[in-house]
Amino acid sequence: MKYFFILLLNFIIIFPILAADDNDKKIELPDTFDGGDPQKGATLVESCAACHGSEGVSISPDWPKLAGQNQKYLYKQLKYFKDGSRMNALMMSVTPYLQTLNDKDLMNISAFYASKQSSTGQAKNDEELLNTGTALYRLGNSKKNIPACTSCHSVYGQGNSLAGYPSVAGQQIGYLKSSLIAYRSKERNAGEKAAVMQAIAANLTDYEIEALANYMHGLYR
Ligand code: HEC
Ligand code: HEC
Repeated sequence: MKYFFILLLNFIIIFPILAADDNDKKIELPDTFDGGDPQKGATLVESCAACHGSEGVSISPDWPKLAGQNQKYLYKQLKYFKDGSRMNALMMSVTPYLQTLNDKDLMNISAFYASKQSSTGQAKNDEELLNTGTALYRLGNSKKNIPACTSCHSVYGQGNSLAGYPSVAGQQIGYLKSSLIAYRSKERNAGEKAAVMQAIAANLTDYEIEALANYMHGLYR
């Protein structure tokens, strides 16, 4: 009995210490969750507005909207453009500028765009195209090794902000198409996650890409 009390006492004293230790560890979040300050970000994006719009909604169907995109994804892509692992003729015009910015600046820019409201798109009302897009997006095609897009980009296309999987909902249609084509040709290969999309896009036909882009463009919640 005496031993039992000693054990119990030990447990009562030691357990909170262990628990407190655990809490301390949880406070050290990875730097991608470091917040980022949208207000500071707003002061750094003047040169981006010509293509991405002052609020992150681009004017051309070929240029990506950044508004409402998740911060972790935006931050990673900015790092890739900065270090040259993701290349694009138009983005190259701001690469020298990105190279003058530090990680905190890129985080603040990402926070700025993530805080903005995205706009919705309107899918083409072509029945066959819509059926193909809906079925592929929601169910995939196991015969062709194409997984359902919903598993990572979610049913309404919002993506997964914790995992850094991009939102595709209402994204510009030309950009959705060109990014799937760029994954398929393996031209888009920046970072460790691009391989996931390369493997998926490898099995898509031009018509399926068209149908998926049309469907994602029209997605909203
Ligand atoms: C001259 C036009 C132009 C300018 C200026 C420009 N961008 Fe872009 N941006 C693009 C295009 C086009 C793409 C798509 C690139 C691709 O297809 O790979 C892009 C892609 C991006 C992406 C990746 C989007 C995604 O969904 O993967 C981010 C983030 C981005 N730009 C941020 C910026 C920031 C920040 C600035 C200002 C410092 C900027 N851009 C300036 C045209 C531009
Ligand atoms: C296993 C998870 C996963 C699945 C399944 C998946 N994706 Fe992705 N997708 C990602 C990740 C991660 C990225 C970002 C990759 C990178 O960093 O280049 C991405 C990027 C994209 C992009 C580019 C977004 C942008 O802003 O540039 C498009 C478009 C896309 N996916 C469409 C699809 C479609 C369509 C499907 C279904 C046929 C699909 N994805 C299935 C994880 C997934």
